[in-house]
Parts: sequence; structure tokens; C-alpha cells
Amino acid sequence: MLRVLFVGDVYGQPGRRVLSAHLPTLRPDFDFIIVNGENAAGGFGLHREAAEAILKAGADCITLGNHAWHHKDVYALMLDEALYPLVRPLNVSDPGTPGMGWRTFEVGGERLTVVNVLGRVFMEAVANPFLALDELLLRPDLGSVFVDLHAEATSEKAALAWHLDGRVAAVIGTHTHVPTADTRILPGGTAFQTDAGFTGPTNSIIGADPAAPIQKFLTERPHRFAVAGGPAELNGVIVQIEGGKALSIERYRYVEEA
Ligand SMILES: [Fe+2]
Ligand SMILES: [Fe+2]
Repeated sequence: MLRVLFVGDVYGQPGRRVLSAHLPTLRPDFDFIIVNGENAAGGFGLHREAAEAILKAGADCITLGNHAWHHKDVYALMLDEALYPLVRPLNVSDPGTPGMGWRTFEVGGERLTVVNVLGRVFMEAVANPFLALDELLLRPDLGSVFVDLHAEATSEKAALAWHLDGRVAAVIGTHTHVPTADTRILPGGTAFQTDAGFTGPTNSIIGADPAAPIQKFLTERPHRFAVAGGPAELNGVIVQIEGGKALSIERYRYVEEA
């Protein structure tokens, strides 16, 4: 049995701060920790400093998302496979895309494969995530499979989870930064939650200081977003996995004191 902690999108310096302070206290309780780091560098993407902070806090694997390529640093990190256990989106069209869309880890004698996949509804064009996963799951050597589903639409997330039910251990959503209360195990044994929620500043609009997003909506013109200050929170999901299926799933939330 594997006890896996999945931590939702780490956002900027406040997200890195709460992760660095709190994740080490959780580390002994888990066999494997996955952290989505797609907003760890100032709200957009991942750079070397952010990757190192996330790994030092106790992550075994860092997943990404639609902001995967924001910082040039990430190209070098993706090529350094041994030092940086990154998983970038699987369903990209360019076969020359650097990095890996899935990785298999040996955890206490068991195999655990982590996949990062992008949705297509209300997002930039990418390859079909349903077909990309169907193809990946033809492989016989994946062990238990944990999917970080980075997508906007609740409908697309549910559809992919139900499509994969019984074939993967977990489908956990990211990207919308708000934890959903639909935590459950589907009939075939796949743990599912539409969104894990994010790890970042509480008094924010999905991580950004509210001022600029409000101006954007008021004026219909672009405004420069800033990472919000104040206390941060950490949101995640705990999944117990055995034989490729989920035994349990529960939400996890920690909030810094103001
Ligand atoms: Fe995000
Ligand atoms: Fe995202």
C-alpha cells in the first residue's frame, strides 16, 4: 500500500513559503509526495530556484501545467532527469518537446507512474488528452498510475476521470486553484477530485493580488498582476493506493496563521 500526498499548484513566494514550512512536517507520513509547481515562480511556471525549494521541502515529483514553459530555466531542468523529477504535460503535439509527460518511480518495491495532462476546454490548443492517456495506458509496466489533470472545465475533468475509471489509481484536478468538495472513489476504483486547490496566498484571486484582476474586469483592459501578500494556505489530496486502485481519498488543507 502506498500513501501518496498530492499538493496543488504552488503559487509564487507565498506558496513556496508555506510549502517549505509545512511539507517537512508531513513528509514522514507519506511514501510519495507529488507537488504541482506550475505557478511556483512568481505565479507563472517554474525556475531553478523554485524547483529546488519544492524538492528541498520534500517533494518526490513536480508536475507542471499550461505555464510549464514560462521560464527558460525549465528547459535545462527537464533535461537533467536524474536531478529534477519533473513531469510536464503529456499531450503536446511536438514529439521533440523536452522533458517527460509521465515518469515511473520505484517506491518501496512498488511502481508508481505520475502523469501530467492538459485539458482543452477554455484552454490553448493541445493534443487530445483522452487519446494520449489511452495510448500511454497500453504500456504494461506503469504500476499504479496517478494523473494530475490540469484543466479548466469541471465537465472535461469529470469526463476524463470516468473514462479512466478502473485503469488508473487517481485523477486529481489542478489549474483552477479552488479545492472542490467532490472527493470520491469512482465505481472502478479511481480516486477523483475535480480540483485539489492551490498552495498560495489566501487573500487573493487564485493567487494574484485582487486589485489588478478587478481592474481588468472593470475596464476590459490588461493590467499587470502581482502575487498577493499575507497568509498562505496549502491544499492537497491524500490517496492510499494498492494494486493500481485507490483504497481511500481525503482532502488536506493547512492555513498559515495571520
Ligand atoms: Fe495553476
Ligand atoms: Fe494552470
